[in-house]
Amino acid sequence: MGETVKLIIEGKTIELPVLTGTEGEKAIDISRLRELTGYITLDPGMANSGSCTSSITFMDGEKGILRYRGIPVEELAEQSTFVETAYLLVKGRLPTKKQLNRFSISLNDNSLVHEDMQFFYQNFPRASHPMGILSSMVNALRSFYPELEGLSQTEEINMTVTRLLSKLRTLAAMSYKISRGHKVIYPRPDMCYCSNFLNMMFDTPVRPYEIDDDLVQALNVFWILHGDHEQNCSTSTVRVVGSARVNLYAAISAGIAALWGPLHGGANQAVITMLEEIHSSGSDVTPFLKRARDKNDPFRLMGFGHRIYKTHDPRGKIIKSVCDRVLKKLRRHDPLLDIAQKLEEVALKDPYFIDHHLYPNVDFYSGIVLRALGIPTNMFTVMFAIGRLPGWVAQWKESTEDVNWKLHRPRQIYTGPSETAYVPIDKRKNTI
Ligand code: SDX
Repeated sequence: MGETVKLIIEGKTIELPVLTGTEGEKAIDISRLRELTGYITLDPGMANSGSCTSSITFMDGEKGILRYRGIPVEELAEQSTFVETAYLLVKGRLPTKKQLNRFSISLNDNSLVHEDMQFFYQNFPRASHPMGILSSMVNALRSFYPELEGLSQTEEINMTVTRLLSKLRTLAAMSYKISRGHKVIYPRPDMCYCSNFLNMMFDTPVRPYEIDDDLVQALNVFWILHGDHEQNCSTSTVRVVGSARVNLYAAISAGIAALWGPLHGGANQAVITMLEEIHSSGSDVTPFLKRARDKNDPFRLMGFGHRIYKTHDPRGKIIKSVCDRVLKKLRRHDPLLDIAQKLEEVALKDPYFIDHHLYPNVDFYSGIVLRALGIPTNMFTVMFAIGRLPGWVAQWKESTEDVNWKLHRPRQIYTGPSETAYVPIDKRKNTI
């Protein structure tokens, strides 16, 4: 047996194997703990527990490192495109020119959705949140694209992955157009992935959308930065739901639902709401920082803090530079950016934030970029979902190929009443 740790329980010593990751991270393998000792471990929020081994993304929360398949996210943001990064995440390596071209063509060929899907949108109440619509529509994709007869499992998975990567973007833009009562704009074969999305969102029969390469580049970087993030809440959801061997559309639909939460992907929308509230209250950040420090106030500084990063989120720094570039190109001044910068400046000097290792995360500035692109606030988390889809798919695929993977079914420590007898209703005392 390789490296081990000793555990003494009720006088009995057991040895448990230690796993060492590529970058030297250590884990105690407790997969036989209950069998050997009758004990389980308890770790609410799984902050100290690994659910799997993975070769997709590496994060170092203390050093602020993020790499996809070993490549630093800074280099991908600088030199890659979202489609190429999606290929890297899903296939495990950078594509050759020929592979990338074939992948782009397959995404284009699968970018339409069944015409009947438009009728679903007509029946959602107008005020429906786009994340709820997106999660429902992705689940509905399975009905329109059932398993293909005669395909091997690998071919079926590859086809489903391609359909999802391409159609999620179309579903999102359709949702926006129909919510505005506008004509649905179809994807175009002469446009790249990101340009197509912006065109589907903002083109109209009376005012053609003008593609601005700097804004397309900003969207590429935004989606690259959201590509994957190891076992975050929504990715873990995709893995848990996927472990029941349900179809990938259903697992991704569940991931979208998890991402919707304001403590997770919904934070980018919550940041803008918070910045707007600060702006309308006269732009003084002091009372908001005071509320964030107050244990009795549920208010959190949205866009700050992270389960893993205890220093700057590397994505936040890149998004901030994209922010500056886009606003400069558009010759636009966004007062919310001034407030965000003021908030960051004051918070990073505040002992509470320093002591709690609270730094801006990816969501803190991302909303300002999306505002500049013209994306409506209630679609910010949809934008996060489109970016995170390659990561969800890659992590789901890895779980289906993992020989150690099994149905996800955690244990618990029961703290309810011990055995009690059933009491017939006419003998029950009114205890209220
Ligand atoms: C994303 O996991 C991922 O990788 C997620 C993500 C991804 O790419 O998938 O990076 C995307 O979800 C980014 C995070 C977006 N969420 C927010 O910005 C919401 C605001 N942030 C917090 O809610 C919080 O920081 C979390 C949820 C992100 C992380 O919280 P943890 O790790 O569960 O820590 P915690 O809630 O136990 O807080 C620890 C302490 C507490 O104080 P004490 O009781 O110990 O004194 O820090 C405080 C908290 O009150 N704290 C905050 C705070 N975040 C934590 N106090 C004020 N404002 C905050 N934002």
